[in-house]
Amino acid sequence: MNAVIDALNFRHACKKFDPARKIATKDLDTILEAAVLSPSSFGMEAWKFLVLQSPGIREKLRPACWDQTQITDSSHVIVILARPDQVAPGHPYVAESFGRRGLPEDATTAYIEKYRHHMETEVLPRMNLYAWCSKQCYIALADIMTAAAAMGIDSCPMEGFEKDRVERILEIDTQKFEVAVLVALGYRSDKQPPRRRHSKEKLVEIR
Ligand SMILES: Cc1cc2nc3c(=O)[nH]c(=O)nc-3n(C[C@H](O)[C@H](O)[C@H](O)COP(=O)(O)O)c2cc1C
Repeated sequence: MNAVIDALNFRHACKKFDPARKIATKDLDTILEAAVLSPSSFGMEAWKFLVLQSPGIREKLRPACWDQTQITDSSHVIVILARPDQVAPGHPYVAESFGRRGLPEDATTAYIEKYRHHMETEVLPRMNLYAWCSKQCYIALADIMTAAAAMGIDSCPMEGFEKDRVERILEIDTQKFEVAVLVALGYRSDKQPPRRRHSKEKLVEIR
């Protein structure tokens, strides 16, 4: 079977982690490498990965996350932060991002203009910059979970938290960053439950 499909079958939203098992530093590093390799719209990389390994901070965080045990029993929690302020059209970070492509100046200027136009006409009428950055963060979330699964490491993606409270506890500078989503990582203590999915026939249309 295809190695990616194997990893995707191994992955499930792990509800009970074995608190005694910790992820090796080199495996965590591989997972973080997968995170930073993730694609993002216009290559904006509108994220930051805050890794929580200290039990103390995770103990403090848990009540703000629906008291879910994954926060404290997992080996690590990665908080994926969105960077909404830096991706605003006109922010120097945008020019710097396009500048990294090493294109001639007029091509860079055209990209910056195309970005501004796209954001103003397609993105911002439908959502704010936090939501747009979060969409990108969720791609990194998927890559983190698949990379972990490929190494036999379990994960639980987590949206079950109070955003403002989490940001206060973690002392996030919300002028620069906002919490998009969390992912707990570690090793399962329960058996994987049966998978429930709609059929491909129902979900896929080929034209
Ligand atoms: C963005 C996102 C947020 C989620 N938040 C939580 C959560 O806070 N707690 C939890 O136990 N599961 C959470 N889940 C897990 C889903 O319930 C789970 O992925 C879904 O039921 C399918 O099950 P499976 O992942 O085991 O195949 C979340 C999943 C996603 C993708």
